[in-house]
Amino acid sequence: AGAAGAAGLVLGAGGGAAGYAAASGSGGGHGDAKALASVGSTAVPFHGEHQAGITTPLQARGHLVAFDLAPGAGRKEAAALLRRWSAAARKMTAGEPLGDADTGVALDAGPSSLTVTFGFGRTFFGRTGLEKQRPAALDPLPDFSSDHLDARRSNGDLWVQIGADDALVAFHALRAIRKEAGEAARVRWQMDGFNRSPGATAQPMTTRNLMGQVDGTNNPKPSEADFDRRIFVPADGSGEGPGWMAGGSYAVVRRIRMLLDDWEKLTRGDQEKVIGRRKSDGAPLTGGSETTDPDLEKAGPDGRPVIAADAHARISAPEQNGGAAMLRRPFSYHDGIAADGTPDAGLLFICWQADPLRGFVPVQRKLDRGDALSPFVRHEASGLFAVPGGARDGEYVGQRLLE
Ligand code: HEM
Repeated sequence: AGAAGAAGLVLGAGGGAAGYAAASGSGGGHGDAKALASVGSTAVPFHGEHQAGITTPLQARGHLVAFDLAPGAGRKEAAALLRRWSAAARKMTAGEPLGDADTGVALDAGPSSLTVTFGFGRTFFGRTGLEKQRPAALDPLPDFSSDHLDARRSNGDLWVQIGADDALVAFHALRAIRKEAGEAARVRWQMDGFNRSPGATAQPMTTRNLMGQVDGTNNPKPSEADFDRRIFVPADGSGEGPGWMAGGSYAVVRRIRMLLDDWEKLTRGDQEKVIGRRKSDGAPLTGGSETTDPDLEKAGPDGRPVIAADAHARISAPEQNGGAAMLRRPFSYHDGIAADGTPDAGLLFICWQADPLRGFVPVQRKLDRGDALSPFVRHEASGLFAVPGGARDGEYVGQRLLE
C-alpha cells in the first residue's frame, strides 16, 4: 500500500493544532488502504501529551459511556482495567484488529479518526482509596435553578468518550471497551451522538446543531496564546492540584434536551435574536462573516443593542464572564420520541477546561438566570470528569495516578 499515493492522514492529538497533517505511509491496518478514502484512513495518535478526543476535530459519531467499579473492585482492579482499556484503544485507533476475540465489526474499515478518551469521576477516588489524590476541581457542580437532572444518567466512577467518523468503527470500539471492563466495572449510563459527516458540505465550516445553528464558532483556538492555559492543566506540573493531572483537562458533560417543537415555531429572525448570530452562516447580527467579532456595543435604529441583552452568545462570551472560557466539543443526539410526543433530541454538550470554576460554572450560572435560549433547552443529565494527560509510549492512561 502507499504506492498508489493514498497516503494516510494523521491528526495532531497532543498539544498541537487540531488541523490535518499529511503523513507518509498508509492509514488503516484493516483491509486495503489504497481503497480507503481519507475519511477511513485518517488516524489520530493514541499517545501524546494530551489524550486524543479533546482538540481532535469533531467526529461524525460519538458514544459516551460511564462505568461504576463493581462491588469489591478497588485500585488494583482499576489499574488493570485502565491498562486493558489503553491497550485496546491504542490498537483500535491505529486501525489494528483486536485478535481472535475481535467482533469483526470494523474489520474492513480504517481507523476513521477513532479516539477513545478516559476520565475519572469524583466517586472513583473513594472506591479506590485514593481520596488524597482527588482534585478539588472534581467537587460537585453547583445546582442550577433550571436543572432537571436524572441522577442515574449523571456522573459515574469512570467515563469513556468514543468518537469516530464511521458509525461501525465507533460501535466496534464501544463493544471492545465494554468487553474489556469484564468483571471490574459496570455500565452506569450510555449516550450516543453524532455530528455532520466529513465531506457532507462543500463549504467546510463549524458544525450545525439540531436547532440549525452554526455551533462552535467562538471556541478558543489552539493557535491562541492562552489556549493551553485555558484548556489544559499545565503539563510541566506547575498547576494547582495533584501532579497526576499534569497535561490533563476537566470535562463537563451535560445532556441538554432541545424543545424543538417550540423552537421551530419561531421565525428565523426570532431564532437569530436568541443567539445573536445569523443562521445562514453563523455571522454575528452586527455583520461580517462567521469569524468576524460581534460588536456588542452596536445599537440599531431603535437605539437598542443589535445583539440583544439576553442573546446567548453575549451572555456566554468570556468578556462578560471575567474571562471564563471552555472548549465546547459536543455531539448531537436523537433517541426517538419521548412519552409526551416530543423529540428526545438535543446536545450532548461536552466542554473542556483547565478548571471548571473558571470555565463552565460561571458561564452556566449566568445562562441559568435566563438567557434567550433557556426557554428552549432543558439540562437532563450532568457529569464532571478528570481526564488525565495522554499516555506516553509504553504507559497506560491514568498510570501516574494508579501505579
Ligand atoms: C456560543 C448554542 C449551551 C457556552 C454559542 C453559539 C451557539 C450556541 C449557536 C454561537 C456560535 C458559537 O460561538 O459557537 C448553544 C446551544 C446550547 C448551548 C444550542 C444548548 C443546547 C451552552 C452552555 C454553555 C455554552 C450550557 C456553557 C455553560 C457558550 C459559549 C459560547 C457559546 C462560551 C461562545 C460565546 C462567545 O465567546 O461568543 N452557543 N449553546 N453554551 N455558547 Fe452555547
